[in-house]
Amino acid sequence: MKGIVLAGGSGSRLFPLTRALSKQLLPIYDKPMIFYPLSTLMLAGIRDILIVTTPADGPMYRTLLADGASWGISLTYAEQRQPDGVAQALVIGRDFLAGDSCCLILGDNLIYGDGLSEMMGRAIARPAGATIFAYRVVNPERYGVVTFGRDGRAIDLAEKPRAPRSDWAVIGLYFYDGSACARAARLKPSPRGELEITDLNADYLRDDALAVEKLGRGYAWFDTGTHESLLEAAEFVHTLEKRTGQKIGCLEEIAFRKGLIDAAALRQLAALYSKSDDGRYLERLAEEGPNA
Ligand code: G1P
Repeated sequence: MKGIVLAGGSGSRLFPLTRALSKQLLPIYDKPMIFYPLSTLMLAGIRDILIVTTPADGPMYRTLLADGASWGISLTYAEQRQPDGVAQALVIGRDFLAGDSCCLILGDNLIYGDGLSEMMGRAIARPAGATIFAYRVVNPERYGVVTFGRDGRAIDLAEKPRAPRSDWAVIGLYFYDGSACARAARLKPSPRGELEITDLNADYLRDDALAVEKLGRGYAWFDTGTHESLLEAAEFVHTLEKRTGQKIGCLEEIAFRKGLIDAAALRQLAALYSKSDDGRYLERLAEEGPNA
């Protein structure tokens, strides 16, 4: 299974913040936004990852993330020339995927919850089809929305419906089998001119090949597309990190705990961050070991 992080888009809903800086590089408290989706992929055990950016922003992502070797992962880069929709990431990623199954995650989504790794493990274990995740929100009209039938199975998907049939938003984390690229290539642009990820998911649903997992009360999901949600996500990370002394979305920590890097490599990274809290945090982790 390979991973794709989509970090394209003009970020116009966040102007002027994003006039000069890519949205997914903005800070969510103590890390750049893209660290959170990257950490989700790493928690799923995915190590081969394509980062899709705009042509203008590519160099900055390369400066920040390089080839991923410091976290024991492999990062490659591709460009989305126009913001032509989320599903286009699969068309762009066709050569990278080379027929493999994949996990696509949006670069502005922060997902947190005990049990997330297990849930993603179930999605990876499904031999065919797609798995998407639903989260109950007060403003479903801003998202893809899934409606469930009486038996709990998904019966309908709609992108930003004016009158949503349910409160269950589809979050920006999608697991697909090897047929996703071919399915995405067949999609037609929606009325807003985009290749909609909801249309791709609906294609799987029509084939009775779509699993929908509900993220219940124990989870937090933020998409950081507005000023308010950006602030709320930062407050959430700050609150939890301050209370527990444990970091959320810390790539170095995940790499160490998963055995992708050893204590010596972790100490080198800690030295790099010696002037920030991260340095002390990583140093302590190297001391305590990966299972502490
Ligand atoms: C995209 C998808 C939408 C999904 C959302 C999650 O919307 O089109 O279905 O619910 O991401 O963040 P966008 O944020 O691109 O408007």
